[in-house]
Amino acid sequence: MPITDQPLPVTGGLAKHEYVRGVFTDIAPRYDLLNRILSLNTDRRWRRRAVDQLHWEAAPAGTYLDLCAGTLDLAAELANRAGFTGHVIAADFVPPMLRRGAGKSARVAPAAADVLRLPFPDGTFDGATIGFGVRNLMDLDAGLREAARVLKPGARFVVLEFTTPRWQPFRAMYLTYLRLVLPRVGRIVSKHRTAYDWLPASMRLFPEPAQLGAHLQAAGFGAVEWHTLMGGAVAIHIAVRMPA
Ligand SMILES: C[S@@+](CC[C@H](N)C(=O)[O-])C[C@H]1O[C@@H](n2cnc3c(N)ncnc32)[C@H](O)[C@@H]1O
Repeated sequence: MPITDQPLPVTGGLAKHEYVRGVFTDIAPRYDLLNRILSLNTDRRWRRRAVDQLHWEAAPAGTYLDLCAGTLDLAAELANRAGFTGHVIAADFVPPMLRRGAGKSARVAPAAADVLRLPFPDGTFDGATIGFGVRNLMDLDAGLREAARVLKPGARFVVLEFTTPRWQPFRAMYLTYLRLVLPRVGRIVSKHRTAYDWLPASMRLFPEPAQLGAHLQAAGFGAVEWHTLMGGAVAIHIAVRMPA
């Protein structure tokens, strides 16, 4: 992707779609390393907590879907659980990200696919996850509707995403970290000029947890609940696919 001084296309549309695709293509080789550094190695714990909410134990031989799967960390977190005998389809529209996940789990099948047009029939999956993906979709509601479409009625959908802590002074500290530290470290390690400005920029416009809950309901999910981790910096939403 060409380096640009244009404003980041945070508001959605095709410009966002193409920007996101270009950024993740460029940073794929350094993505895992940067996750470990920038989260101080806590990102694995967040993914564990998300998978804990999926209730996969109800159908351990089932077929699950991980959306915006990236380098397969979240898909592998489920697929490598003791007692899990099913499969996880890991969908992402950036093949270099999927390729970085090779070898993380034999039960994960990568699928180069756009979340907004999933190549799966209605009611295919026993459960689904999406980690740090919803914020990157050019059309949030279309993505949530696709997730609902491919899930079986009663199946769980777990959404892991950044949010902004409410409690001061942690909020102020965290916003300073996002504004000053994260983009600099990201720039040095990824060698990409704007990729790590994208995270704080896209977070600014992303719905608060209660609003995201309303989007999930509008897309066909019920029993929506959420809780936060890391002092409110990360949210996990849990939603159940309602019968059509
Ligand atoms: C921040 S990464 C998250 C990766 C992984 N889920 C994790 O937990 O680390 C966001 C991923 O979403 C993917 N993505 C964004 N929009 C997408 C879309 N419309 N369809 C498929 N993948 C998409 C990007 O390619 C990128 O790999």
